[in-house]
Amino acid sequence: MKESIITNYELIDDQTLDNTIRPETIDEYIGQTDVKENIRVFVDAAKMRKEPLDHVLLYGPPGLGKTTLAFIIAHELGTNIKTASGPSIEKSGDLAAILSSLEPGDVLFIDEIHRMPRTIEEILYPAMEDYSLDIIVGSEGNSRNIKIDLPPFTLVGATTRAGDLSAPLRDRFGIVSKLQFYSMEELTDIVKRTSRVLEMPIEDEAAVELATRSRGTPRIANRLFKRVRDFAMVEGCDTITLDVTEKALDRLKVDKIGLDNTDRELLLAIINRFNGGPVGIEALSSSIGEEVTTIEDVYEPYLLQIGLLKRTARGRVVTEKAYEILGVEKRK
Ligand SMILES: Nc1ncnc2c1ncn2[C@@H]1O[C@H](COP(=O)(O)OP(=O)(O)OP(=O)(O)O)[C@@H](O)[C@H]1O
Ligand SMILES: [Mg+2]
Repeated sequence: MKESIITNYELIDDQTLDNTIRPETIDEYIGQTDVKENIRVFVDAAKMRKEPLDHVLLYGPPGLGKTTLAFIIAHELGTNIKTASGPSIEKSGDLAAILSSLEPGDVLFIDEIHRMPRTIEEILYPAMEDYSLDIIVGSEGNSRNIKIDLPPFTLVGATTRAGDLSAPLRDRFGIVSKLQFYSMEELTDIVKRTSRVLEMPIEDEAAVELATRSRGTPRIANRLFKRVRDFAMVEGCDTITLDVTEKALDRLKVDKIGLDNTDRELLLAIINRFNGGPVGIEALSSSIGEEVTTIEDVYEPYLLQIGLLKRTARGRVVTEKAYEILGVEKRK
């Protein structure tokens, strides 16, 4: 994968820091007001009835806080959380083992739930509906069905692609919430919170500047904060100033509105090689050397949101605004 501030986050150091920064309670979770307030009500009601919370599906682009919210739900319910991810569940036995390890009221968090094989998905249906596990034991010719009762639990599924979920699975979630990109004000609050948690002060204008360049995404805001903090420390500053922030972000090739190299490359490819579009996603993918799913899940959502790109029946088209921002003349 290419060097990019958006996708390049698998550093050990970053991961440890992520756990320190991640909010633990619903009150610390900034933004996503509608989703948050609904979940607060449903959690309170479930606790009053002493019943498990209905199954929750969280979807939206990467880094907007799905995993964080899943942990917060368990925290607010006062229960344990067990985690798994779609691609790691390869055999039906894997899922059966996870399900039978649950304690009453537990939250089972399945990340990237759209990547779970369909055959395995079917085991989830009775588990979600009646808390029962139907499995086949024994070898071929000598196999039988057994039914095991499971404790009541809450499944929290997270996905960047709700459209890839099968209808029967999607229908079994009582609460379906879409996470939105964050506003500049919300991201500024997130940056200030991170600054407090990591005990590295930041000037107000610097926090706003970081927020503006974070693509509406808390993960990017935190990642940029850490990089800017590195620059500040090396320069011997004990506070992150606007000056250091601008210098660091320019060095990281994050532009004034938060676009990184790949965003710009994608837009410029459509402009220069496809005359502004429409261009099919496959052609675009081979033109810039990024996977179709990476373009669709990681890059496109924000470009669509801020109106630099449009999706039409015939393919992707760049907008007038994109020409303006990139400073490119439109060809006749
Ligand atoms: N609402 C929020 N308030 C404060 N910080 C947040 C919020 N949402 C996310 N974050 C921060 O952003 C980081 C990324 O969030 P998270 O890992 O939950 O995203 P995600 O949606 O699960 O992403 P992915 O799709 O890649 O799994 C977290 O480490 C957390 O610190
Ligand atoms: Mg996640």
